[in-house]
Amino acid sequence: MSDVFASPKDVSRGLEGQSYLSNESIASVVYLAAKLGKPVLVEGPAGTGKTELAKAVASMAGARLIRLQCYEGLDESKALYEWNYKKQLLRIQAQNIAEAEGAEVTWKDIEDDIFSEEFLLERPLLQAIRSEDQVVLLIDEVDRVEIETEALLLEILSEYQVSIPELGTVTASQVPMVFLTSNNMRELSEALKRRCLFLYVDYPELEREKEIIKAKVEGVTDELADQVGRIVRTLRELDLKKHPSVSETLDWARALVLTGIATIDPETAKATLNLLLKYKSDIEKASKELTLSA
Ligand SMILES: Nc1ncnc2c1ncn2[C@@H]1O[C@H](COP(=O)(O)OP(=O)(O)OP(=O)(O)O)[C@@H](O)[C@H]1O
Ligand SMILES: [Mg+2]
Repeated sequence: MSDVFASPKDVSRGLEGQSYLSNESIASVVYLAAKLGKPVLVEGPAGTGKTELAKAVASMAGARLIRLQCYEGLDESKALYEWNYKKQLLRIQAQNIAEAEGAEVTWKDIEDDIFSEEFLLERPLLQAIRSEDQVVLLIDEVDRVEIETEALLLEILSEYQVSIPELGTVTASQVPMVFLTSNNMRELSEALKRRCLFLYVDYPELEREKEIIKAKVEGVTDELADQVGRIVRTLRELDLKKHPSVSETLDWARALVLTGIATIDPETAKATLNLLLKYKSDIEKASKELTLSA
């Protein structure tokens, strides 16, 4: 890809241009992935910018983002390709009619016809492999698929080619950049991990979270961003069921700006905790902490 990947610094700058604030490890893994043509496995807590990273990389590279959203039960027909059965049936019926009217149609004719490009439904993996233009392939939440589907993904990531029995083998004309994300719902196979560069994206450091707030929340002051960042940081140190993620930090900051709050006092913080925390017990714990630290 172009020289936006010339060095980790360039990567960092490029991402910043897309309002994605990276750190050293993010920038260097993305740089290496571009240089080595290896997929990146991004792991970390919910809402820390794993999905957004792939989107930002695609935009900075001027590449098309192709996303395969994983879920339990995802199979080859939804990940790779399937035949358009309904259309095939209609064509067979049409050929039956033609035959009844005297046309000579052999099964071989029919087969060649209905297993041709016209009847192929491309799914994200095949789309990425066949794409002529630059693409970034995002295999999102890969830990949700069954181990058999993971094996299929692995096979594709090692060869960047797909064999379609009726059409032949399709090989990628260029190795796409690939990002796999995982929330660690289950352990991924050693083989998949070996194939990928590993990137752990944790909650951002205070300075970076402040920058994210300023980049994403219109009208926020430096002071408010700083306060939001600090309070969220304190809450992440508590023993909670679910810590606030970057998404929640942003929701909170937006709400404060919209309601015209310039500085957060403990009362405001407590009254708006429901934007940051999603469990009653967490809200109670956090309220207590805010009262004590006031
Ligand atoms: N480093 C960052 N720079 C800019 N925005 C960020 C950053 N990290 C997170 N965000 C913002 O936080 C929100 C959540 O990010 P994202 O959806 O990528 O999280 P995720 O890690 O994929 O979460 P999940 O595990 O729930 O899918 C998005 O609105 C994104 O813009
Ligand atoms: Mg995500």
